[in-house]
Amino acid sequence: MNEADKTVMTEEEKPSGMEVTRRRFLSFLFGLATAIGLGAFMAPLVRYAYPVIKPEEYPKVKVANLSDVTSTGIRFDYQDVPSELIQLKDKSFAAYSLVCTHLGCIVKWEANNHIFHCPCHGGKFDETGKNISGPPPKPLTKYKTSIQGNAIYVEGIAS
Ligand code: FES
Repeated sequence: MNEADKTVMTEEEKPSGMEVTRRRFLSFLFGLATAIGLGAFMAPLVRYAYPVIKPEEYPKVKVANLSDVTSTGIRFDYQDVPSELIQLKDKSFAAYSLVCTHLGCIVKWEANNHIFHCPCHGGKFDETGKNISGPPPKPLTKYKTSIQGNAIYVEGIAS
């Protein structure tokens, strides 16, 4: 190697710390592509691990007119679940799913005794839906009810 092949950079030709060299630019592009690729790969995993849970939405459904409700109750389906609107002894209204909390049989409202009776294993619930005898482990599911004008509506599960 002779002296003519050697290149000597002046101070102006040497890359400074702020100068974008081809190597730095390619490294930046590679890092950016890697980050985008990892993000695209990880996003579904993160969504699976931390799902966005929307509160269940229940429709507001007119069940009956006030004048229609008697102590004998009014059967209706709510979200395809057999249900009943009843008038309590204090003349207020309540609506329940008729699905027994034991093994899922359909309970019957006995207006004379003010109880729900399950024909399968003899479970009984009082007019508030509370399990009072037999094998059912918990109360009937109660719905939120509201009165607007002359109509009674059901909208979702009461807490
Ligand atoms: S299913 Fe109702 S008491 Fe068993």
